[in-house]
Amino acid sequence: MAWQYSDKTKQIFMDAVQGKPGTHLGEIENPDGEGQHGSIVCGDAIKFTFRVERNEDPLKDVIVEAKYLTFGCTSAIAASEALCTLIEGRGLTPIEALKITNQDIVDFLEGLPQQKVHCSVMGAEALEGAVVDWAQKRGVDLAAQGVRLTGAGADEDEGRVVCKCYGITEPYLRRKVKELNLRTIEDIVSALKAGGMCGACRYAPGGLQDILNETWGAGEPAPTTVAAAPVAEGEMSPFQLYRKIEQVIDETVRPVLQSDGGDIELVDIKGWKVYCSLKGACASCMGAARTLQLIVERSLKDQVDERIQVVPI
Ligand code: FES
Repeated sequence: MAWQYSDKTKQIFMDAVQGKPGTHLGEIENPDGEGQHGSIVCGDAIKFTFRVERNEDPLKDVIVEAKYLTFGCTSAIAASEALCTLIEGRGLTPIEALKITNQDIVDFLEGLPQQKVHCSVMGAEALEGAVVDWAQKRGVDLAAQGVRLTGAGADEDEGRVVCKCYGITEPYLRRKVKELNLRTIEDIVSALKAGGMCGACRYAPGGLQDILNETWGAGEPAPTTVAAAPVAEGEMSPFQLYRKIEQVIDETVRPVLQSDGGDIELVDIKGWKVYCSLKGACASCMGAARTLQLIVERSLKDQVDERIQVVPI
């Protein structure tokens, strides 16, 4: 499936994978706060770290640096960048940083495809984990400061597991459905991933649709058969695939490479394998393989099809 990202999201992604100054891909050594969210198994995960300028009173610690590592798509990288940018350089204490919501991240990116909103939720939850870590290290009682944790690790979320594929519990679902104003199963899949794999939890008794009905009133009736994973879009013909790949390379990838004195040639396409050759400065660049992997393949996976593999020649 191809996604339509805002120009700002695409630019932030490109800057991040090229390691341009001011971007935040990486990890802080001995961080003051460290949080993780997501699962490498399901394809999206973020590790978020920050460093504070310490004050005698830990409540006055100020975040001065933030970094992230993520295993995910364009939106996961862009959302993580947005989170770090929103936090850094604003003189925020860790507790103040908790006010940053996933909607702030989406707004910063000038929108995210509905199916990618979970990337912003992931960032906000990794931030919360990092603040909890900071509080433990600095001896701060967050509850005594009136902080109510809202992430997946909050104590109040222990309970019956509704979505077994993602290990998501009923209390967490009920809370997030309200907080994020999730009205349909598709909204839940997009924001939380629950229901997005085998689909068995969607219309099962006590499942996603029942939780939606109990929260917002009766909604769509259960289908006669259990819903499976989202229906795939129609396959492109080989010609359409070629044209789409060519378009993404021309409009998204080539301008970035050319800005660094490089270029790319699309040599061949066999099945989902896309054979490319880097030109100019990129051809002799030590980071060429990384460039292909991060920029070209990721862009093609996101904007054309997840099955694409880029083969450098
Ligand atoms: S149980 Fe929820 S997607 Fe499989």
